[in-house]
Amino acid sequence: MAEQIQAPKGIPEYFPPTGDLFRYVREALTLPVIQAGYKYIELPYFEDAALFSRGIGESTDVVSKEMYTFTDRGDRSLALRPEGTAGVIRSVIENSLTQQGLPMKLWYAGAFFRAEKPQKGRYRQLQQVGIEAIGADSAALDAEVIAIGYQAFFNLGLRNFELQITSLGCINCRPTYRSLLQSFLANLDLDEETKARAELNPLRVLDDKRAEVQKLVQLAPLMLDHVCEDCLTYHNEVLEYLDAQHIPYLVNKKLVRGLDYYTRTTFEFVHHGLGAQSGIGGGGRYDQLMKILGGQDLSGIGFGLGVDRALLAAESEGIDLAAKLNRPIAVLATEPAMTKLAFALSAELRQAGFVVDQVTNAKNLKTGLKIAARLGAAAAVIIGPDEVATGVYAVKMLDSGVQITAGLGELGSVIAQHLALDTKAT
Ligand code: HAM
Repeated sequence: MAEQIQAPKGIPEYFPPTGDLFRYVREALTLPVIQAGYKYIELPYFEDAALFSRGIGESTDVVSKEMYTFTDRGDRSLALRPEGTAGVIRSVIENSLTQQGLPMKLWYAGAFFRAEKPQKGRYRQLQQVGIEAIGADSAALDAEVIAIGYQAFFNLGLRNFELQITSLGCINCRPTYRSLLQSFLANLDLDEETKARAELNPLRVLDDKRAEVQKLVQLAPLMLDHVCEDCLTYHNEVLEYLDAQHIPYLVNKKLVRGLDYYTRTTFEFVHHGLGAQSGIGGGGRYDQLMKILGGQDLSGIGFGLGVDRALLAAESEGIDLAAKLNRPIAVLATEPAMTKLAFALSAELRQAGFVVDQVTNAKNLKTGLKIAARLGAAAAVIIGPDEVATGVYAVKMLDSGVQITAGLGELGSVIAQHLALDTKAT
């Protein structure tokens, strides 16, 4: 036998019965985004590698350690996208999208790639639903973005999560704070690698997961205590909007994100049931990014919600996602001669809005019903010689076992009525 080929390491696959649960999670996370009027953007899965090193930051782990970079046949240096924000801003600049009016509110969904050490909830191909709102400095917009993310997780049914928020300051106050933090870190007994990181990207040291480093940085100065007047007012205004919408949050002054473009409002959704990979979504403002990428001096804010982790979070909370999927109606012909009629009836019921799974491999009623049960069908429409002769069809409600009958024209409405009763009964 030929050698089997396996999927690359660290890539999650979603196949039945989980595939549709994954799709459901992605759709549930998307719905509040669409309801808020964001417009869809479809972007390349690979870009000029320089877009990410310049946009996300050369010294971030995402760029320096985790990027899938390759040279194409034209000797161009390209990278699989590790995140969505840089690509959105590149497209906004290149296609002059801001001419369509500000703020430009966009959303996207798809796969991103990071060569991380794989473990549960940390994958090399990860999926996000993301939004970016470009070109408005307004605390109300920040609160809108955060509220959409909160609503997305809440609607999915998640409760065991927390919104953490802080301000990372602006170009006026961040450099002063950065030097202050660097002086503090310079006096600590850190290993060489961490010392180097303190020079390049001192905020990342605060995010070091090692207990000994956490102990050392316990008394480190924190950005939120050193933001300028304007940033503080802005931050408090965002919190007021969140209060007004009754969105609970925790101000976490130690919140550090893995991407360098953040300024001012920065947030993360943390789930308590996921262990180390607890970030189910995150985002913030990036007021310099568009300028850094060669565009106008316009600000932006957005988030990325992790679909893989949201699915794990839902499972950890025992949410019955399968129950939220539309169960099919099985259409069974009990004899091969009835198959054509089953085919036509299936099409008709689909037109009426039902999910219909036509069972083409049933040898008789018994095996047909077995197959219908395996498909998770809510009801089975049975087409046998009697039904054809009388024009009255038997419909078996598969949860309760109740059998009803309906004529051709009323099949759809009778099924709908009984489905509602059957779900109430179960
Ligand atoms: P991020 O925090 O790097 O932000 O990613 C957003 C979410 O993607 C995370 O909270 C997590 O749920 C999920 N995620 C990230 N890496 C992995 C992984 N290796 N495996 C599984 N899930 C993962 C961004 O990507 C920013 N672009 C978000 C943003 C948009 N900020 C402003 N606008």
